[in-house]
Amino acid sequence: MKLIVATDLNFGIGKDNDLPWSFAKDMQYFKNLTTQNPNTIVLMGRKTYESIPEKFKPLPDRLNVIISTQNLELKDFIPLNQFNGDFSKAYFINNFSQLQDFISENLNFDIYCIGGKSLYDFCFQQNLITEVFHTLINSKFECDTHIQSFPDNLNLLSQKEIIDTNRNDNKDYQLIFKHFEVN
Ligand SMILES: NC(=O)c1ccc[n+]([C@@H]2O[C@H](COP(=O)([O-])OP(=O)(O)OC[C@H]3O[C@@H](n4cnc5c(N)ncnc54)[C@H](OP(=O)(O)O)[C@@H]3O)[C@@H](O)[C@H]2O)c1
Repeated sequence: MKLIVATDLNFGIGKDNDLPWSFAKDMQYFKNLTTQNPNTIVLMGRKTYESIPEKFKPLPDRLNVIISTQNLELKDFIPLNQFNGDFSKAYFINNFSQLQDFISENLNFDIYCIGGKSLYDFCFQQNLITEVFHTLINSKFECDTHIQSFPDNLNLLSQKEIIDTNRNDNKDYQLIFKHFEVN
């Protein structure tokens, strides 16, 4: 499974259950990566799904899978094992092994872990990640949510620096798109 995350220099990723910044080029990068393969799962924690504005969800052209310990069927989510090809609905699982069951029967899916903190930490701890796409925002933001630093066994494959405007304060920031493989 691949992991995609944007952090500041302190590994901050969130504030008030939202992103601490708003970068259009980073959003486009996220969209391009996660829609490259028409069979892509975006796996996310329940709080991250709740943080996405209603008009953007489910994230289009991707299979949205939300992990939660709750029975989200009561909130109109569909159990992933009932997926019948309809990408316009949001699906849920209660634990990671339900995703593994699904993948063993649907071999051609690419999976991206897209956050938030509790899911990122879980995926790294369980050694589930094979590639990391890290947008490093070369600055410090006020955050209330941070990921643990990355594991040591990452090998940098490529990086690209760009300048992007933060729509929250209209200032320009340096962003570095880093792609790692996990050894
Ligand atoms: N910078 C970035 O790239 C980025 C990306 C995504 C999110 N974020 C930010 O991250 C913050 C949210 O992170 P968070 O840690 O508070 O929330 P989260 O990881 O999005 O969601 C946490 C919830 O997901 C469920 N969950 C997570 N792991 C699970 C597991 N292994 N098994 C079963 N259920 C699991 C639980 O739901 P239940 O409580 O329902 O059981 C848990 O309470 C927000 O500020 C968001 O904007 C940042």
